[in-house]
Amino acid sequence: VSDNCCIVLDRLVEGAPRPEDFRLERRPLPEPGAGEMLVRNLFASVDPGSRGRLSGRASYAPPLRPGQVMEAQTVGLVVQSDGGRFAEGDLVAGALGLREFAVTKGRGMRRIADWEQPISTAIGIYGTPGMTAYFGMLDVGQPEPGQTVLVSAAAGTVGSAAGQLAALRGARVVGIAGGAEKCRYLREALGFAGAIDYKAADDLADAIGETCPDGVDVYFDNVGGVILQTALGHMADGGRIVICGQISQYNREGTAPEGLVDPHPFIYRRLRMQGFVVFDYADRFEAARREMRGWIEAGRLQFREHVLDGLERAPEAYSGLFQGENFGRGLVRIGELA
Ligand SMILES: NC(=O)c1ccc[n+]([C@@H]2O[C@H](COP(=O)([O-])OP(=O)(O)OC[C@H]3O[C@@H](n4cnc5c(N)ncnc54)[C@H](OP(=O)(O)O)[C@@H]3O)[C@@H](O)[C@H]2O)c1
Repeated sequence: VSDNCCIVLDRLVEGAPRPEDFRLERRPLPEPGAGEMLVRNLFASVDPGSRGRLSGRASYAPPLRPGQVMEAQTVGLVVQSDGGRFAEGDLVAGALGLREFAVTKGRGMRRIADWEQPISTAIGIYGTPGMTAYFGMLDVGQPEPGQTVLVSAAAGTVGSAAGQLAALRGARVVGIAGGAEKCRYLREALGFAGAIDYKAADDLADAIGETCPDGVDVYFDNVGGVILQTALGHMADGGRIVICGQISQYNREGTAPEGLVDPHPFIYRRLRMQGFVVFDYADRFEAARREMRGWIEAGRLQFREHVLDGLERAPEAYSGLFQGENFGRGLVRIGELA
């Protein structure tokens, strides 16, 4: 191997990301220096949250410039280590971006446990999205037995785990997702009490009212916009809204945001709304992973992966997130372990 395939940002993104916003580039294979490692990536993720860095404007992370490698979470094999944090042959998870090989000092990376199988789960259910579901639902949302929990983007990576975790706490869970197949999965495979196909519902408010007749105690919001405002109208007294993501708004930069237009229910329903950033819980990730492992191995927590083969398919996988084309954790397979 002498070159290194990378997916780079071709131009700043306006509106919904398109595959043409990225290009594949072959770069020279990087060489690790002292204290560094060469990692061969095997899987990379596509994440809706990356969208904030693609418009050229500063967000909580600096913007990506055209020509820079697109960010992604990765699982890879350490193929060379010059006194680096990990040894040759270690499988490591991190955020090395959409590229075959990367040189790194290993900051912010971890060696994955042998029970994290398949290894892609290290950036899925055992990675950022799984942790987001865990802390967002259990720490921020705090559902109680018998309460009604509503989750949007519920068939997605974060949403499906968040809903199942609420059910494990004894809550009655209703999901909102796009399409009959995803809704059937929520009801039949995951045992949700209800599922609303927001793309087919004539009236979303009626659909929430019918599936949540006692009101919503916890609304776990991944999408924002009209769905958030509609859910607000169905909150129960003392309800909590967890602002996890706002995917319906990520492509609307420069236009008036949609969303909460009337906060009145906060007063008469005594509601609370809280956002969170998963990385604030980093010192508890290891304990959370172990607890999730128990549920997964007992068959009480399920997950799906949506894997496209080949790094070159990452732009398609990424733009597909905003069209609901992924049904499970959005991943690309870059290489095989053997
Ligand atoms: N707070 C944090 O620390 C944190 C950390 C990680 C992720 N997040 C957020 O968590 C959310 C879910 O992320 P994920 O990785 O699990 O992605 P995902 O749910 O696996 O994929 C995104 C899904 O969002 C739905 N969607 C896309 N555009 C939509 C729209 N306009 N309106 C309604 N639904 C739409 C689609 O499902 P349908 O087919 O159902 O439309 C799509 O499959 C994102 O908002 C992300 O930014 C937050």
